[in-house]
Amino acid sequence: MTGAATFYVTTPIYYVNDKPHIGHAYTTLACDVIARFKRLDGFDVKFLTGTDEHGQKVEKSAEAAGLAPLELANRNSANFRELAGILGCSNDDFIRTTEDRHRIACQALWNELVKRGEIYLGAYEGWYSVRDEAFYGEDELIAGTGGTKLAPTGAPVEWVKEPSYFFRLSAWQDRLLKWYEEQPDCVGPASRRNEVMSFVKGGLQDLSVSRTSFKWGIPVPGDDAHIMYVWLDALTNYITAVGYPDTSGGYARYWPNVLHMVGKDIVRFHAVYWPAFLMAAGLAPPRRVFAHGWWTNEGQKISKSVGNVIDPLTLIETYGLDQVRYFMLREVPFGNDGDFSHRAMVNRMNGELANDYGNLAQRVLSMIAKNCGGTVPSPGPISDDDRELLDAGYGLLGRLREAIDRQLYHEALEAIWVVVRAGNGYVDRQAPWGLKKTDPARMATVLWVLAETIRLLALATQPFMPTSSGRMLDQLAVSADRRHYGCFDSVNALKAGTPLPAPQGVFPRFVEDAAAG
Ligand code: MSP
Repeated sequence: MTGAATFYVTTPIYYVNDKPHIGHAYTTLACDVIARFKRLDGFDVKFLTGTDEHGQKVEKSAEAAGLAPLELANRNSANFRELAGILGCSNDDFIRTTEDRHRIACQALWNELVKRGEIYLGAYEGWYSVRDEAFYGEDELIAGTGGTKLAPTGAPVEWVKEPSYFFRLSAWQDRLLKWYEEQPDCVGPASRRNEVMSFVKGGLQDLSVSRTSFKWGIPVPGDDAHIMYVWLDALTNYITAVGYPDTSGGYARYWPNVLHMVGKDIVRFHAVYWPAFLMAAGLAPPRRVFAHGWWTNEGQKISKSVGNVIDPLTLIETYGLDQVRYFMLREVPFGNDGDFSHRAMVNRMNGELANDYGNLAQRVLSMIAKNCGGTVPSPGPISDDDRELLDAGYGLLGRLREAIDRQLYHEALEAIWVVVRAGNGYVDRQAPWGLKKTDPARMATVLWVLAETIRLLALATQPFMPTSSGRMLDQLAVSADRRHYGCFDSVNALKAGTPLPAPQGVFPRFVEDAAAG
């Protein structure tokens, strides 16, 4: 793979105070799809996920559970690692912020910032939210019940007064604004970029980057009384994983061509603090930060106190992995908030997957098995109708590239389904079942056109639904080395006479349990 263009994609690293839920699964899936797509498209890809294990929030949760922080972290980090496997994720690395490689990277970054005069010692007095692990200005707070003050996220805040090191964030305002202007794709979607720009235009305060009131974190080099602010620690994971402070190997190869996928609640950390830390250390800021929206459950905000948290494992057991992957990236325009409902899930599963896509493949493959001796049929002259469907299929890759590069997963899937629907329209018009007696040569052509279209569709759906698409490609006898996007053309079309295995349905329908009503 040397010489191939590189692509680095990261999930946020997840706090180990909690169990994995639908929000974690969503970000990780979105990263997996783009990682798979880019690999199929010939890129040298690195896909990173992991866990954020330090800070007061984790320390407090451990205390409440009667565990040492590292014990809690070990236990819960394993759950996130396991989730990545269950989601079928193709991550190349899983980072834990309690690893040595990460402490080394954080301390090296800190030393570099100190050396460049970007960090100074002072004292912090102000509001802090442990739940958000964030400092808030008085003007940002909202009124809670009984005269209490809350963070803008609704999280409790406490007054903190302690010695602290500060990062000269205020000095980076103009250079950040220049970055947003010169690299308009650095933050997506555009609405988030605007939000970030107006926050920065509103003026930046120096940022407290160390704490002295607890112990669970990475010590500040040369001043053990201070623990690094958990967000400085956490964000650094993205360069730890490419080998920082060594800037030759992985770093030189993958940085800064990176996409940080994040939820909308953590854009400020990724699109303001992180690029400022990097630039201040003389390192390049990330190529792009993309923020997705939040899921609700049957119209309701998801919260532990309401008890409506969606467990991704239950979803997968109920509907199937590829079905859940498809639904999550199809249902909601990526970047917007969306609602999970059983009804919407079943509609997509039964309508688009089982009926539109699954039936098309199943009908065509069974006709080929019955009428063409179980081998790829031999096409004769190609009609205009045939050409139109084939061209729609071959044209798909360009559309997918455009949509995926802008993280518009729903548009990529819609483009694929335009071809699925065109395939169904074509079968109805050409009615190959009626041609068996009247014109078997034409029947063979129609079935070949359809089989070739299914090959293209299955190539296209691989990043979204790897297992089902793989099974479809197996049924078309497409070998493993011909599933990458260099084969998305007519040169690699199905060869007449290739023996095909017996067809099997790939997308089951969801049948409601009558007893459960
Ligand atoms: N540890 C930090 C990230 C550090 S990255 C250097 C963190 N962790 S988290 O576990 O709380 O959150 C992880 C992600 O889950 C965030 O991107 C957040 O937006 C996402 N979600 C949490 N609830 C969600 C929904 N209900 N819906 C969609 N995503 C949501 O933040």
